[in-house]
This record gives sequence, structure tokens and C-alpha cells, in this order.
Amino acid sequence: MISLQVNGKTQEVDAPEDMPLLWALRENLGLTGTKFGCGVAQCGACTVHLDGEAVRSCITPLSRARGKNIVTIEGLDDEIGHRLQKAWIEEEVPQCGYCQSGQIMSAYVLLKEIPNPTDKNIDDSMTGNICRCGTYQRIRAAIHTAAAGK
Ligand code: FES
Ligand code: FES
Repeated sequence: MISLQVNGKTQEVDAPEDMPLLWALRENLGLTGTKFGCGVAQCGACTVHLDGEAVRSCITPLSRARGKNIVTIEGLDDEIGHRLQKAWIEEEVPQCGYCQSGQIMSAYVLLKEIPNPTDKNIDDSMTGNICRCGTYQRIRAAIHTAAAGK
């Protein structure tokens, strides 16, 4: 058993230490907002926060997540999280939606670090999150909207 702190709750997971965090979130804990895309840290669909840092949960073993504060899209309920979700709706960002939880998790870390990001800040920060539907312009607009809404 591995004890994980997920979205403010302690959760016991019956899984090996080298299992990717993404598997535990989706299969053991039913937190399916975090998506499996590539499985090799190349797309960003599986992005979650570990102690406030955006990480790719598909390559993060449970041994690394143990003892850390893990936040998934389901737990993003503070002021910045709400601003982002509202902006995503206002700017009609999602198309198929598959990549969007990962996009929002990365955008959250950006706004924590840089409350008023430039286009370059956004492009630099979001570069690891791939969207096969090509919503990049809308993502950029939504991040500016969220930043302005503070
Ligand atoms: S599924 Fe983790 S980066 Fe693609
Ligand atoms: S909205 Fe379809 S992959 Fe991004």
C-alpha cells in the first residue's frame, strides 16, 4: 500500500512503487480528468501538480509522488483555478477536449509564477502541451482573459 495525498485527501493505493502516478489516479482512484496521451512525457495530457510543480504523471512513479501534495484537475478549485475554468468557457477553447485538463494544469502553474504573462511567456510555458485540434490561439486568449480577471 502506498499512501498518497490527492486533492487534499489521504488515499491508500494498492500498487507497486514503480507504477506511474497516472495509472493510480485513473484506475485506482477514479480521477479520470487526467488523460493518457502518449505515455512518454511528450504531449502533456497527463499533467498534474506535485507540490505546485507541473509534472507528467505518465512518467512519474508512485515512489516520487509519495509524501507530496498531488493536485489533479478535479482539485483545482481555488481562485486561479476558477478564473481559468471561466476563461476557458468564455473563449470556447475546447474542441475534442482531450488535451484540455493538461493545458489548464500547465496554465495554472504559469499564472502562479507570472500573473500577467506575455504571449512569449505563454508560448514558452505551454510548449510541452500538445493539442491535436490546434486550439493554441484560444488557449493563449483564455490565459490572457484569466490573467485580466484577477
Ligand atoms: S501522456 Fe503523459 S505526456 Fe503524454
Ligand atoms: S482540444 Fe482536441 S486535442 Fe486539444
